[in-house]
Amino acid sequence: MANNEDQFKKVISHAKEYGYIFGSSEIYDGLSAVYDYAQNGVELKKNIREYWWKSMVYMHQNIVGLDAAILMHPKTWKASGHVDAFSDPLIDNKDSKKRYRADVLIEDHAEKLENKAQKEITKAKKRFGDSFNEAEFVTTNARVLGYREKKAEMLQKVARLLEAEDLSGVKTLIEDLGIVCPVSGSKNWTDVKQFNLMFGTKLGASAESATDLYLRPETAQGIFVNFLNVQKTGRMKIPFGIAQTGKAFRNEIVARQFIFRMREFEQMEMQFFVRPGEEMKWYAYWKETRLKWHHSLGLGTENYRFHDHEKLAHYANAATDIEFKFPFGFKELEGIHSRTDFDLKAHEAHSGKKLQFFDPELKENYTPYVVETSIGLDRMFLAIFSNSLQEETLEDGSTRTVLRLPAILAPVKIAVFPLIKRDGLPELAKEIIEDLKWDYNVFYDEKDAVGKRYRRQDANGTPFCITVDHQTIEDKTVTIRHRDTMSQERIAISEISSLVAKSLSMKDWLQ
Ligand code: GAP
Repeated sequence: MANNEDQFKKVISHAKEYGYIFGSSEIYDGLSAVYDYAQNGVELKKNIREYWWKSMVYMHQNIVGLDAAILMHPKTWKASGHVDAFSDPLIDNKDSKKRYRADVLIEDHAEKLENKAQKEITKAKKRFGDSFNEAEFVTTNARVLGYREKKAEMLQKVARLLEAEDLSGVKTLIEDLGIVCPVSGSKNWTDVKQFNLMFGTKLGASAESATDLYLRPETAQGIFVNFLNVQKTGRMKIPFGIAQTGKAFRNEIVARQFIFRMREFEQMEMQFFVRPGEEMKWYAYWKETRLKWHHSLGLGTENYRFHDHEKLAHYANAATDIEFKFPFGFKELEGIHSRTDFDLKAHEAHSGKKLQFFDPELKENYTPYVVETSIGLDRMFLAIFSNSLQEETLEDGSTRTVLRLPAILAPVKIAVFPLIKRDGLPELAKEIIEDLKWDYNVFYDEKDAVGKRYRRQDANGTPFCITVDHQTIEDKTVTIRHRDTMSQERIAISEISSLVAKSLSMKDWLQ
């Protein structure tokens, strides 16, 4: 556990030190759960977005893109259910004046029982050494079983109370469990109240004429309201999809774990419109297709798993999360939802406009069903970045920090170094960059010894380094050094571009 925590701290500090992510408006002490992407972060984020976009839009003849506005007619959010139901149960501590998500307070309390169970396991491991059978121990040890049973009971109870919208029951549970405020240490709690997560804003110049708007909490609704526009102008036939990437905003109360849960974040969503009755076939297709996409990046298939939802949202008839093993455990990375015809029907009802499709094969009109794939771009960034950051011990016993980003996503593809700062080598290195810069993001570095420059680029995630030396002047060859293997080879300047291109082929990565 401590190791994972340490690893996560390293991820956060590395992201800052190497120009990937800064806290928002840091000179004013920052804004909680809001982040800025720095010179390298913006490139990595753009490359992830592009990898997603190409795999969804260019690889499917029946998927097209959209870029809807962040601000939408306020009725959109009434129709989608966000005005009435997009909320978290909150509770305040009267002494510290701190606000908490009531269910998270209970979950954190339950987690303490899991920690106790883990301590028992660690103790037993030490006691029994090599002969320890963990699988048997956790299913037979009375203490471990007791802690885990209590934990499950607690979580089931809070889930039942929330489902029944019994907020006073939630407060009673917090009191019965003796949960104290982590800041004041007191049990002086207010009642539990539902708190809507949407950020409000105003449109218009004067207070009297201003219209209340919301910053969108998901990009999906921009797709639903444009369903017919796209279908008609693109002459799309069911099944077809609309893909979109863009900012979404949620006033998250429990915003922690760096860019895992933010108040301003970016989503990459795709709504796939299908014939009613065929949604399960497409749901299965998108589950498989999206998992393959994740696996294509080589972060380790063991780091992904599905978590099928047992309790479904009112609009869904099937839902799953693709979970990823972050430094703090398996957590949701992407959601795949079979959303029925709920959204289109709701927009029809609120707008008075028909949102139906005439199916020429069936010769009938119907409201399509929707299968949605929805992934947080920032969360994907964190998955890739945290998985790629590694400390390695080399053969000579020294260590190196290497950011093994998939080459296709790396912000800088090639770093070019003159071996020394004279004899025309810097000029020659810059000439090489002049040629490569049309196809790649290239970085020039002449400071410090070459070994040190290599290590800087390893930590930065740059897959290739090119060194220009005196031999380059004679025979137009350079040394190319590979980040992951640290191997070096001598190649002609004219071969650099094609060698790098091979490792960046979208076709090879995706297939
Ligand atoms: N349109 C469906 C939808 O928005 P969601 O499960 O609420 O579903 C989808 O969000 C994805 O968006 C999540 O799987 C996660 O990757 C990302 N996401 C949601 N809330 C987020 C937040 N506060 N910060 C960062 N990413 C978030």
